[in-house]
Amino acid sequence: MASYVPAVLIALLMFSHVMDAMASDDLGFFFFVLMWPGGFCKLSSEGCCDPKVGEPISDFFARGLLPYSNNGTALTNCSKCTFHLDEVSDMMGDLYSYWSDISCPSADSINLWKFTWETYGVCSGLTQHDYFNKSLDILKEIDMLKRLEKYNIIPIEYHDYPVREIMEAIEAEFNVTATIECSSNSVADYQLYKIYLCLDKDLTKLISCPVPAPEEIEYCPEYIAFSPYTPQNETSMAANPIRMSTVPE
Ligand SMILES: *[C@@H]1O[C@H](CO)[C@@H](O)[C@H](O)[C@H]1NC(C)=O
Ligand SMILES: *[C@@H]1O[C@H](CO)[C@@H](O)[C@H](O)[C@H]1NC(C)=O
Ligand SMILES: *[C@@H]1O[C@H](CO)[C@@H](O)[C@H](O)[C@H]1NC(C)=O
Ligand SMILES: *[C@@H]1O[C@H](CO)[C@@H](O)[C@H](O)[C@H]1NC(C)=O
Ligand SMILES: *[C@@H]1O[C@H](CO)[C@@H](O)[C@H](O)[C@H]1NC(C)=O
Repeated sequence: MASYVPAVLIALLMFSHVMDAMASDDLGFFFFVLMWPGGFCKLSSEGCCDPKVGEPISDFFARGLLPYSNNGTALTNCSKCTFHLDEVSDMMGDLYSYWSDISCPSADSINLWKFTWETYGVCSGLTQHDYFNKSLDILKEIDMLKRLEKYNIIPIEYHDYPVREIMEAIEAEFNVTATIECSSNSVADYQLYKIYLCLDKDLTKLISCPVPAPEEIEYCPEYIAFSPYTPQNETSMAANPIRMSTVPE
C-alpha cells in the first residue's frame, strides 16, 4: 500500500518535518535547565517513581533548552509543529536515561519530551531532531556531576553544602554564574534541584545569564542537601538480602 504514496507527497511530508525549524527573530539566548533527580524525589511525599519505560541515570537530567528574548521573555508556542517520536529514534536510549519523567505514578517520558518540544523547542530555530540532539550533547559536555565531584561536591545523605561553594565550583569550571533552584518539602529540607545556565543563541558557548532564572523559582538557603538518587528498581535489588550476601566484604 505504501508504494502508492506519490513521491511528491513523501517529499512534502519530509519537508513538513524540516519546517519544524521555525526560527524566531526575537531569539536572544537560551536557558539550559539541568535537574538533579534526587532533589525532584524530595519535592513531595509522593517521592519519585521509575518511568514506565527506560532506565533513568543517576546523573543530572536535561529539563529543557529554553529560548528567550534578550529582555528576559520566554519564547513559547511559536508554531503548532507537533512532536514526532520517529525524529528522535536515534537517541531514545539517551532520552530515556537523561530526560526521564520520574514523577508518580510511573509516567511515560514521551509526554515530557512532547510538551518541551511543543512549548519551547518550536521557538528554538532547530529541527526537533537537533533540539534534542543538541540538548543531550550540551548536557554531556557540561558533565555537571563530574565537575562538581572535582570540588568534593558529591550527592550524599545527611550532609549540607554551602550554596556558595556550589556556585563557586560552577564559576571556576565554566566562567559563568549559575542560578540554583532548591526543592523544599514540608519539613523545610532544602535540596539541590535545578541548575540554570545560559547559552548564546547559536549554542556555541555558555554565557552569563541576562536574567537570573527563567521563571519564579525557589531560591536556596545558605546550606542545602545534595541527596543521592537511585532508580527505584535498583533500590529494591540492593535491599534484596540474597543479593547482598553474595557481595564479598
Ligand atoms: C520583550 O521582547 C518580546 C519579544 O521581542 C516582546 O514581545 C515583548 O513585548 C518585550 N517585553 C518587554 C517588557 O519589553
Ligand atoms: C524497572 O522495572 C520496569 C518493569 O520491570 C522496567 O521497565 C524498567 O526499565 C526498570 N527500570 C530500571 C531503572 O531498571
Ligand atoms: C503551549 O503549548 C503547550 C504544548 O502544546 C500547551 O500545553 C500550552 O498550554 C501552550 N501554552 C499556551 C500559552 O498556549
Ligand atoms: C548528536 O549528533 C551528533 C552528530 O551527528 C552525534 O555525534 C552525537 O552523538 C549526537 N548526540 C546524541 C546524544 O545522540
Ligand atoms: C571569564 O569571563 C569574563 C567576563 O565574562 C572574561 O572577561 C574572561 O576573559 C573570562 N575568562 C576566561 C578564562 O575565559
